[in-house]
Amino acid sequence: MPTNYKRTLVTAALPYANGPVHIGHLAGCYLPSDIYVRFKRSKGEDVKFICGSDEHGVPITIKAKKEGVTPQAVVDKYHKMMGDAFREFGISFDIYSRTSSPVHHKTASDFFKTLYDKGVFTEQVTEQYYDESAKQFLADRYITGTCPKCGNPNAYGDQCEKCGSSLSPTELIEPKSALSGNKPVLKQTKNWFLPLDKLQPDIRAYLDKHKDWKSNVYGQCNSWLESGDGLQPRAMTRDLDWGVPVPVEGAEGKVLYVWFDAPIGYISATKELLPDDWEKYWKDKESRLIHFIGKDNIVFHCIIFPAMLMQHGEFVLADNVPANEFLNLEGDKISTSRNWAVWLHEYLLDFKGKQDVLRYVLCANAPETKDNDFTWKDFQTKNNSELVAILGNFVNRTLVLTHKFYNGSVPAADKYTKEDLLVLEELASYPDKIEAAIEQFKFREALAEMMNLARLGNKYLADTEPWKLIKTDEERVRTIMNVALQITCNLAIVSEPFLPFTSRKLFDMLNMPVLKWHASKQTSNMAAGHTINKDELLFAKLEDADIQPQLDRLEASKKNNVTENPVEAAKGETSFDDFSKMDIRVGTILEAERVPKTDKLMKLKIDTGIDVRTVVSGIAAWYKPEEIIGQQVSILVNLAPRKIKGIESQGMILMAENNKGELSFVSPVKTGMNNGSLIK
Ligand code: 2FM
Ligand code: ZN
Repeated sequence: MPTNYKRTLVTAALPYANGPVHIGHLAGCYLPSDIYVRFKRSKGEDVKFICGSDEHGVPITIKAKKEGVTPQAVVDKYHKMMGDAFREFGISFDIYSRTSSPVHHKTASDFFKTLYDKGVFTEQVTEQYYDESAKQFLADRYITGTCPKCGNPNAYGDQCEKCGSSLSPTELIEPKSALSGNKPVLKQTKNWFLPLDKLQPDIRAYLDKHKDWKSNVYGQCNSWLESGDGLQPRAMTRDLDWGVPVPVEGAEGKVLYVWFDAPIGYISATKELLPDDWEKYWKDKESRLIHFIGKDNIVFHCIIFPAMLMQHGEFVLADNVPANEFLNLEGDKISTSRNWAVWLHEYLLDFKGKQDVLRYVLCANAPETKDNDFTWKDFQTKNNSELVAILGNFVNRTLVLTHKFYNGSVPAADKYTKEDLLVLEELASYPDKIEAAIEQFKFREALAEMMNLARLGNKYLADTEPWKLIKTDEERVRTIMNVALQITCNLAIVSEPFLPFTSRKLFDMLNMPVLKWHASKQTSNMAAGHTINKDELLFAKLEDADIQPQLDRLEASKKNNVTENPVEAAKGETSFDDFSKMDIRVGTILEAERVPKTDKLMKLKIDTGIDVRTVVSGIAAWYKPEEIIGQQVSILVNLAPRKIKGIESQGMILMAENNKGELSFVSPVKTGMNNGSLIK
């Protein structure tokens, strides 16, 4: 961590305003960034926390189309909903802005114009996919197809969410329009490209200065730079009607690429927050910029946005980009369309006032180094065995005994024993441990240390048993209770970044003003004679009956999903002639092996009856190589060969895919169907 900075600007990814916020969002970047910022504020550092809604781009227009409303109506609805949810969960942005704001439109437009005037962009007429029935170019998410890198059949034109690769629509195998489901055609159009190929050396030099970044982040950046031909020029404009208009002549009907305008949203929001003072956060070399994001945003924040900023020339570049991996739910990927999620607004209805419980569980399970799983059982266990049994129990015993023995007045510590002194020494050591972990973006570790402090308190009470000792040694109990109250007060300070509502409640119960971080290094914050307030329980036990409705709801989502979307919509008509052009045969798998460095691909040797050939198929998630040797399958033998991961695939295995995306071979059900039998 650099030490020579004066202020920190923390940004959290601007979420698309096309749906409510769920636990995956919270765990991915909003909770860690909030913990980080709260900690910095508590340290008295100059920090600003920036976020807002990403209101442009195809995700918004697709949602509008689906709901039969205007894109503006979509963003208005979700901007409010998302802002409310963040606030309710204590995500303490200094500003939650939006990219449809006039300040943003002007800032993004000016930024583009500056780069344009500097001659940064290359103007290129290229062939882009076009949906003839919808009469529209198909940018980014308007097009789906199979990822050429991992075989995911549902990759988007700009990105594969499965393997995280950044893609361009023409790379997709078997592209399909998201508007009509039709195969798109290629049509010429002019766009402005950021020549990332030429900028690669500058980006390399920038990344080389940041080898300290989290290994998942640095590694992903490296693979973009080093694999294949390295970085490629990327269009910064799109043929769409929703977004920031391209401010140059000849660009009518075009808007800025959403990934050009969205990160500039961080700058616009800072401007909106600090109209007179924003520049010092963005232009002063002593400002430290940190982007909190999810792993699917790494390329945009570590390569494309820095490249834009470098070309502009006036701005600081991110000093760190602590990206998290993904959070799954009950073993399955969180999915809005399958309603497989825990929505924050719904959580609040069912678990009123328990925001900190969710914050705690999501931080304890944060997907910091790998994808992680949220389960309701674990939520219940962490609440009952950690928050209630450790933190709540310690605080409750301390406060109840203080009221019982001293009418709520803090007793003086008369004489410390060796044991007390050791506990006080340990107490004073926690802030540094927590701080070191937070500064390295290891929030799970930091939270665990905070709980260890509560454990220390519990152990101290269990070892000294003041409730028994009060009968024989009142003087000793005064000291014990004083020490326990010091621990409680310091817990109120160090828990604040993680559990802000609990921390506030604790300060209130202690009748103390909110103390800052430095005070947690002291062991005498609670003065003798100070009177505490009435105690309340910090956490309540959760019974099975409390979480069962959540499990039922997920079960219902599973069922609804199957019954509401039993099959994909029918495709357009095809002629018998077209169908009979396809030569589909029965074949037998002779050999099978996984394609290295891919999740889904398997290399198969197939006896087609005509010959023995190699086929690369995206089945590795569903079958093990050793299970399928000898399996009869259907194979399209006259598909033009194509290279997948450097292997020439000479045909295609036909697969049935259900609405959960599970794949199965389509095999003859009768024996005696020899290899080469025609399927017609
Ligand atoms: O992935 C997303 O939700 C994007 N809307 C994140 C944008 S982050 C930034 F660049 F604004
Ligand atoms: Zn992929």
